[in-house]
Amino acid sequence: MKKINWGLIGPGKVTHAFVKDLQLLEHSRVSAVASRSAAKAEAFAEQYDIPNRYGSYAELFQDEEVDIVYIATPPNSHAELGIAAMNAGKHALIETPLAVNSAQAQELIAASRRNGVFLMEAFWVRFIPAIRECLELAQNKTIGDITYITADLTTPRSNLDADWRLDMGLGGGALMTRASYPVALAYMILGKPQEVVAAARFHRTGADKQVSAILKYENGIANIMGGFVSNSDMVGRIYGTAGSILLDPWWYETESFTIVENGGESRAVKMPKHGKGFTHEIDECVRCIRAGKIQSDLWSHRHSLEWKGIIDEIRMQIGLKYPFE
Ligand SMILES: NC(=O)c1ccc[n+]([C@@H]2O[C@H](COP(=O)([O-])OP(=O)(O)OC[C@H]3O[C@@H](n4cnc5c(N)ncnc54)[C@H](OP(=O)(O)O)[C@@H]3O)[C@@H](O)[C@H]2O)c1
Repeated sequence: MKKINWGLIGPGKVTHAFVKDLQLLEHSRVSAVASRSAAKAEAFAEQYDIPNRYGSYAELFQDEEVDIVYIATPPNSHAELGIAAMNAGKHALIETPLAVNSAQAQELIAASRRNGVFLMEAFWVRFIPAIRECLELAQNKTIGDITYITADLTTPRSNLDADWRLDMGLGGGALMTRASYPVALAYMILGKPQEVVAAARFHRTGADKQVSAILKYENGIANIMGGFVSNSDMVGRIYGTAGSILLDPWWYETESFTIVENGGESRAVKMPKHGKGFTHEIDECVRCIRAGKIQSDLWSHRHSLEWKGIIDEIRMQIGLKYPFE
């Protein structure tokens, strides 16, 4: 079967990790990379033996060999680049967050439908084997009805003033790039909350550097946190009426968890990843493209929109508005 050709947009930190996983997979080939800098594209292409390299993103979109683009630039550019790629007939895997708000996410989804091309938010967590197993266990009521979820994602950054993650013009902030992940854990298990209460602390750039939210459901509560100003355990905990599931650090890419029955046994579970774990979302993209689908069932357009809807609500509560909105 023909290999799927990938074109990489934005050769930064996550793309370095992503390309290493891509190169583990028989069904895929990295055929092109593009940077805003020709020299950077050249260096990246040499490092990973990528045949085509471009000094602009637009050139890669016109590369006829490329089947799917992976977009890993700062969040403010995801919608514009994703739409340009899909209008050029490419499938698109777009890094988290898919877009900075629901309106942009809708435009991306419309472009996918209009062009009949596959679009997925690169929410690799949904495809990590241990996470998939936990979601199934939770759904099957192994620990009873889920009543409480708590998780965080907080890692210190050394120079907040120079970091795009704190740049309002680029769609930065702890909610977009950190707290959104624990929000997604609650969403994957409990769905859309009935009520959200959120608070944040802000950097002098105007971006949130620490954010916390309580998501209230009819039968439970989730408590989430994300930030750039401290370390945390990075554990994820799911509590039910009959027991709990404790996801080991770093919960969102974990290979292990423990199931604890109320007042009884505990059982440790190990589920290895392939590579760093991006392989699993890549497998899903290839499966869907080969099946002629424009979205994944596991992380569909609706899932991205509903997740974004919760993020929009938190943003409204903490008063986070980007200058380009
Ligand atoms: N799935 C995950 O676990 C995960 C993890 C980390 C990050 N992410 C997401 O992936 C994206 C990239 O994150 P990263 O950590 O790889 O960031 P990064 O190391 O800073 O790389 C970002 C890349 O975007 C390009 N870019 C385009 N416009 C830019 C601008 N105005 N300022 C800075 N860079 C710009 C740059 O490439 P050129 O200049 O070479 O074109 C740069 O290499 C973000 O959306 C982030 O939220 C996801």
